[in-house]
Amino acid sequence: MTTGIYTLDDFIADLDRITREETSADVITERAAPLLGRLVKNPGSIPAEYRRAPAGQRGRYMLHRAPRFSVTSVIWRPGDRAPAHNHETWGVIGVIDNEIEETRYRVTERGGGRATLDVLRVMRHKPGDVSRLVRGDEVHAMHNATGRDTAEIHVYGRDLAGLRRKTWADDGTEKPLVSPKYLNC
Ligand SMILES: [Fe+2]
Repeated sequence: MTTGIYTLDDFIADLDRITREETSADVITERAAPLLGRLVKNPGSIPAEYRRAPAGQRGRYMLHRAPRFSVTSVIWRPGDRAPAHNHETWGVIGVIDNEIEETRYRVTERGGGRATLDVLRVMRHKPGDVSRLVRGDEVHAMHNATGRDTAEIHVYGRDLAGLRRKTWADDGTEKPLVSPKYLNC
């Protein structure tokens, strides 16, 4: 029987099926994006404790960890930022509450640990909006420019914990990025 409410379990089951049927990041994210949009439009689908930041730190919670994808919630406090970084996999990010500013970059490697970062676009995502990360367009920076917490769901094609990634300073200096825990953003 269908109740019309799309739950986290429904979303995980759909993602499980989609990632069995498809291998292309473009196709996976194209199919997953509207489902994530449906999920985040119903905040009650995510338990309240995973929509709150713990005192004094950014919130990050693993909601589902599977070989072909992971689902986490991320709570950005006012002023929280992540500088430009890559992911080494596909991703879909949906806003549950408030809004987030996302800047996408084109990275041109210059050698010697330096790169030129050109801003492709700056977006402000609102509740229900979904952002897709695919190869060739997946380097971004995030910023909560508002005065209250922003809650999001992040879905990636790999577990980002321990994955060797890259981040860039404003001047293009490259630094290694390895998430010790669920820094899944
Ligand atoms: Fe990210």
